Amino acid sequence: MIEDVTLSPPRAGEVQVRIAASGVCRSDHHVMSGATRHPMPVVCGHEGAGVVTAVGPGVTHVKPADHVVLSWAPSCGSCFYCRAGLPAQCEAFIKAVWDGTMIDGTTRLKLDGRPLHHYCLLASFAEQAVVPASCCVPIRKDVPLAVAALVGCAVATGVGAALYRAKVAPGASVVVFGCGGVGVNIVQGCLLSGAERIIAVDRNPARLAIARDLGATDVVDASGRDPVEVVRQLTGGRGADYAFEAIGNPATMGQAIEAARRGGTIVLVGLGGHAESIHLGAGTFTRSDKLLTSAYYGGCVPQRDMPKLIDLYVEGRLKLDELIGRRRPLSEINEAFADLATGDVIRTLIVFDA
Ligand code: APR
Ligand code: ZN
Ligand code: ZN
Repeated sequence: MIEDVTLSPPRAGEVQVRIAASGVCRSDHHVMSGATRHPMPVVCGHEGAGVVTAVGPGVTHVKPADHVVLSWAPSCGSCFYCRAGLPAQCEAFIKAVWDGTMIDGTTRLKLDGRPLHHYCLLASFAEQAVVPASCCVPIRKDVPLAVAALVGCAVATGVGAALYRAKVAPGASVVVFGCGGVGVNIVQGCLLSGAERIIAVDRNPARLAIARDLGATDVVDASGRDPVEVVRQLTGGRGADYAFEAIGNPATMGQAIEAARRGGTIVLVGLGGHAESIHLGAGTFTRSDKLLTSAYYGGCVPQRDMPKLIDLYVEGRLKLDELIGRRRPLSEINEAFADLATGDVIRTLIVFDA
């Protein structure tokens, strides 16, 4: 639904941003479908970039006219997890994220005089947003804001999982389950790391073709056959050095665990449902020497890493234009969600003025 809503000016530690573009990500769909429980009504959108229009008291690291990528991990900078380099686990903000409010527990958005919630403190499916200052990552101005928007979620999550969490070694073999916005960026991250063999698995031939264009050396269509067997065949019968899951499905998480070789590393990137679980053979897994980990937001530190990811794009080492399959105005937000279901493009962007 598209509504005219009221947006109050930024308070202390907050910033107002004119949104230029906002990608439609699977996590927004999870809120819409109810798979992610969230207070309603809510303005979704968490993969955005724009231009700062106003700053509240105490904000020093950005000023009006700055270009910013919006990070969906507001972080206080001083709690245990922020100091540990895991801002996406920040203790100070986690309640506000799930309450759909700003950090002080109130909303800047109102609909007919009643509070309207902010998804991930960003609510970027709107012309303007008020966000915590820590969500604003200032970036160079010579990069299209549509491209920068993608860095706020899919790129940081995918490339980050390969670079910052797995730290893929040069010459390695990897397999990536799922070639959506996140998966193809894992492929790109593995390529940047110097992986020699990059096996992409999906059920959608269009997405496999894009994965190949972005650096996959082998693609496996998982419809109707067991991709794990194919991965083993392609890796000398052993399995891959690194296996990534970017779907969020317990069955494919299990496949990723199986498809890693003994002593290999598995990184679960796709987000499962809170009620779901994965099966680990107590006898087989414990004898496998495998390292199993997850990567939330790609293990990235937004303020540190997002400007670098943008530099990699400018240097031609990260392909981001290729990820934008379709641009739509806000009036086509429902069609944009339908694009997610069809899966014919990697990303649809809601574009305001990028
Ligand atoms: N086997 C192989 N591929 C599959 C399967 C399956 N069983 N099920 C789905 N896929 C493929 C789809 O065809 C699609 O290309 O997985 C891909 C998922 O891509 P998107 O839906 O575009 O999701 P994306 O935005 O990349 O996010 C992936 O990461 O951040 C999380 O919440 C997000 O859990 C989601 C995951
Ligand atoms: Zn997202
Ligand atoms: Zn913190």
